Amino acid sequence: MTPDRWTRIEQLFHSALEQSASRRAEFLDAQCAGDAALRAGVRELLESHSPGDSIDDLASTLAADWLAQRAGSLVGSVIGNYRLLDWIGSGGMGNVYRALDLSLGRTVALKVLPPYLAADDRRVRQFLAEAQAAAILNHPNIATVYGLEQSPTNVFLAMEYVDGETLSQRIARGPIQPAEVIRVGLQVADALVEAHARGILHRDVKPANLMVTARGVVKLLDFGLARPSRTPPPGSATGTPAGTLDYMSPEQLLGWDPDERVDVFGLGVVLYEALSGRRPFEAPDRAETVARILEGRHPPLRELRQAIPRSLAAIVERCLERDRERRFQSVAQLRESLAAVDAVPSRQPNWVCLTLVAATSLGAGWLLGRGLRGDRPSIAGAPRGAASPPTATDP
Ligand SMILES: Nc1ncnc2c1ncn2[C@@H]1O[C@H](COP(=O)(O)OP(=O)(O)OP(=O)(O)O)[C@@H](O)[C@H]1O
Ligand SMILES: [Mg+2]
Repeated sequence: MTPDRWTRIEQLFHSALEQSASRRAEFLDAQCAGDAALRAGVRELLESHSPGDSIDDLASTLAADWLAQRAGSLVGSVIGNYRLLDWIGSGGMGNVYRALDLSLGRTVALKVLPPYLAADDRRVRQFLAEAQAAAILNHPNIATVYGLEQSPTNVFLAMEYVDGETLSQRIARGPIQPAEVIRVGLQVADALVEAHARGILHRDVKPANLMVTARGVVKLLDFGLARPSRTPPPGSATGTPAGTLDYMSPEQLLGWDPDERVDVFGLGVVLYEALSGRRPFEAPDRAETVARILEGRHPPLRELRQAIPRSLAAIVERCLERDRERRFQSVAQLRESLAAVDAVPSRQPNWVCLTLVAATSLGAGWLLGRGLRGDRPSIAGAPRGAASPPTATDP
């Protein structure tokens, strides 16, 4: 589907929505003038539309399907100096492939921008500027950007290939143990501290942008490429807030100037989701998600999972404060608190166990006392003596 075609479908969709339901079929017949595919495209949008949906949601879903279908057909082809080996996934910026750098012989990840973005000069300049910013980052927890390249037909980003799974794939298998979440969180924090020290904000910290290797090394992806993170409908206006809705801070939603506290918030959402298996502000529709983020409404973490240490839950919830003045003021501060959490449950006092142990000791002490006093025939045959009540310090 070409960008022009998309724009036409989108225009007709809007116009059709303005018609009364009874006039819509007639309106489409007239506008599509025998173009059955065009009519089917608009129909599909109309059918999947419910009053709360925005055109962005619908177009995003359809465009993602379209990208994914198209993606497979490029495997095996050569783009610039790279042979595409496998299709890894699709996101808002296009398709990602495992590819072979034909000059250096190394495996890379190639993010190929969809044609409607590659055709937009302003967008390409923006990618270039952002890729340049990301390329100055050199850190073990950041996937290295090798470069943004252009061929006559494509614009693509070459970066370090990370052999592992995304944190979202990991979370899909269930919540993660607190100690492991802390290990992941510390590595993400290290990556962000480095970026912030160089004046770069991520703005789209989310599980799909975090990869974990088999050895447990975490790599943060998509530095500086957080805009736009959801597939925009071709030809749509720019200026949509940067970031992915469920992970966006209130200030991003409000369009305020972001600072590093945006990434504190994003990391907080990631930690919350990793610990509990659910996103703090998830809701049946986008409008409600926005309301929950702006009002700072989320279930307390320990209500979802009691095994989460109190100190860890408090740290995560502090990251999610809607007023950024009340959050950690830097990722470095957050990192320090995270590093101090004792996540090993056995070291947490467990009052039920302590009470049981104490009761057992008391009982044993009392029985032993009786035995030694000769209330019952004792093995030692010790003489009877005055009974003293067992105390908590008795062995
Ligand atoms: N450097 C990389 N190495 C290995 N796999 C990668 C790499 N970069 C991306 N991927 C894979 O490709 C998928 C798609 O990445 P992409 O960034 O396009 O989408 P996303 O993160 O899901 O969404 P968004 O467009 O909002 O960032 C990722 O979820 C990940 O599985
Ligand atoms: Mg991504």
